[in-house]
Amino acid sequence: MSTLHQPRQRLIRICEGLPVDSTPIWFMRQAGRYLEEYRRLRQRYSMLELCQTPELAAEVTLQPIKRFDLDAAIIFADILLPLQALGVPFYFAKGEGPVLEKPIQTPQDVERLHTTDAEERLTFVYDAIRLVRQSLDEKIALIGFAGAPFTVASYMIEGGHSRHFAKTKLFMHEQPEAWNSLMTKLSTVTLRYLQRQVEAGAQVVQLFDSWVGTLGRYDYRTFVMPHSAAIFAGLRDAGVPSIHFGTGTSTFLDLMKEAGGAVIGVDWRVDLDEVWKRLGDTTILQGNLDPVTMLGSRQTVSQAVRRVLEQVKGRPHIFNLGHGILPETPPENVETAIQQVRSWPEIGKQI
Ligand code: CP3
Repeated sequence: MSTLHQPRQRLIRICEGLPVDSTPIWFMRQAGRYLEEYRRLRQRYSMLELCQTPELAAEVTLQPIKRFDLDAAIIFADILLPLQALGVPFYFAKGEGPVLEKPIQTPQDVERLHTTDAEERLTFVYDAIRLVRQSLDEKIALIGFAGAPFTVASYMIEGGHSRHFAKTKLFMHEQPEAWNSLMTKLSTVTLRYLQRQVEAGAQVVQLFDSWVGTLGRYDYRTFVMPHSAAIFAGLRDAGVPSIHFGTGTSTFLDLMKEAGGAVIGVDWRVDLDEVWKRLGDTTILQGNLDPVTMLGSRQTVSQAVRRVLEQVKGRPHIFNLGHGILPETPPENVETAIQQVRSWPEIGKQI
């Protein structure tokens, strides 16, 4: 790295091992229903209309940035958008989440996916990224993202959200060749999609493997890890840091780290202290406040934030929740959490 290269964004600086004056902070799902300005827009447009109209997606992306002192904006999109590009239509049902009209059930369904140039059918995402970059303060990093192959495959096979992921796990075990083909297709398209986001101006990318924690270690290593690893290997030339996020992953965080990502995202079920002991003190960790604490009093929020920060002890850390912000979260609590992070005295020692 050239000494002339001095990125201004704290998030990028942490990823490059450079000193920071405050812990970088952003919130997963920071644009969304807990903000009244988002809810107002949603009265006029569906979730998919917001995502597919670059001006609206850019506006929503910037809503939390206008309110709060955040270190990153995350482009407003959804991990399921590539499904439509692959020829698998879905919609968001009110109160139920995503619903697929024709879930993947057979090897033939996998064969039929429209993978050729699928990323070209997602140009509205790249356009939104370009628009956000035009008006984003240069101190704030813009994060692009995609769903990881396992999490996306689980929606494709289950047809929506699932508790036990039974169809997904049985497909994986009983039709390993079709599973491998599906995961290979998803990793190929996801890599190209993320590369295009970087070309459009994303400065960091996050791979969301939100539901991979449903798997045991053997299954993760055998059926998932090579495909996520292929994405991170492909991103090495992209010139931007990547964040590898999952929940419920405490039993295979070492494998996730091996699969790739400059930063490992963890949920609240693990102690950061413990994870650093296992993965090494130089591992950059992101997380891991329990989103439920954000529903409490100001004091509850402060105390919970402090408990996360106390474990850091000078190690590289990006403050975030352990999973997405809940729609019931009072925006004042986001403010409180940010203030607590900004006023934390320890960070000075890193400079
Ligand atoms: O973080 C951000 O601010 C960027 C926007 C973002 C959304 N989805 C917008 C959204 C991001 C990063 C995602 C990722 C996503 N989408 C994940 C991985 C992250 C996670 O939370 O685990 C997953 C699993 C999805 C799939 C998805 N999208 C589900 C299950 C649902 C319905 C459940 C819900 O929360 O309502 C969505 C809808 C969705 N994606 C909303 C938003 C703001 C709510 C849409 C609305 O009704 O306004």
